[in-house]
Amino acid sequence: MKIIRNIEALRAVVASSKKERKTIGFVPTMGFLHEGHMALVKAAKAENDIVVMSIFVNPTQFGPNEDFESYPRDEARDTSLAEQNGIDILFLPSVETMYPESLTATIHAQKRVSVLDGATREGHFDGVLTVLAKLFHLVQPDGAYFGQKDAQQVAVVQGFVADYFLPLKVRVIPTVREQDGLAKSSRNVYLTEQERADAPVIHMALRRARMEVKEKDKTRVLANIRAIVNQKKTHEKIVYLDMYQYPSFEPVEDWEKPIIIAICVQYSKARLIDNEIIGGA
Ligand code: PAF
Repeated sequence: MKIIRNIEALRAVVASSKKERKTIGFVPTMGFLHEGHMALVKAAKAENDIVVMSIFVNPTQFGPNEDFESYPRDEARDTSLAEQNGIDILFLPSVETMYPESLTATIHAQKRVSVLDGATREGHFDGVLTVLAKLFHLVQPDGAYFGQKDAQQVAVVQGFVADYFLPLKVRVIPTVREQDGLAKSSRNVYLTEQERADAPVIHMALRRARMEVKEKDKTRVLANIRAIVNQKKTHEKIVYLDMYQYPSFEPVEDWEKPIIIAICVQYSKARLIDNEIIGGA
């Protein structure tokens, strides 16, 4: 595995891979790797000649009161996990490398972002798209791999890639869960023991809602989820819980088309998100 920290070296390996006509699978991450990331790697390996992973905790997608400073980081552990999982190129840029100067132009997300994380994390998706624009230009991937847990991110990235005719496939990989159903997340390390014991209720409530959607009663479905999650007492609050058409994030009008139920729960030090997508492919 090659570890690369600067732009020139990355450009050089990408150029030589392209010259050899190798396809590139790209797994962009913020590190603190877990099995969810490894599922992306596995798919990227199966579908491409080489796999590039980036680990970069991107400051521009964190708001002023968010957890940029405290976001978990462990480069040594991540490097060895990346190596064990067959990554070919690991890109580990610094903030100065990715943002040497203040930006002349940023990417502004304007559709699919008026709700959920787009509404509660101001500027978050602008930061995500801006860093992905940089990374996609550098890595020139044939496919980029994202987890379904971040369903709104997936929808926004798919829209961006389509809008700008970027020559890559956005591949979406199902959420990987702990045995008790809790979605794997780098932020799970910040749950207290009791919070960790209670957090599987999120997935449990969403799974149950899946059955109730047939009745086409949004208010009832959401009220039931809220009631189940609130049976546990350790979380501070449900930051959001709602239901939309997917991937447009427009209000539900056609119950035969894909629908997402998305939730965000705030614990003492961790903000967890999860979702269920119902119907569609
Ligand atoms: O999903 C993430 O980890 C980040 O939002 C991403 C896509 C790596 C951009 O910083």
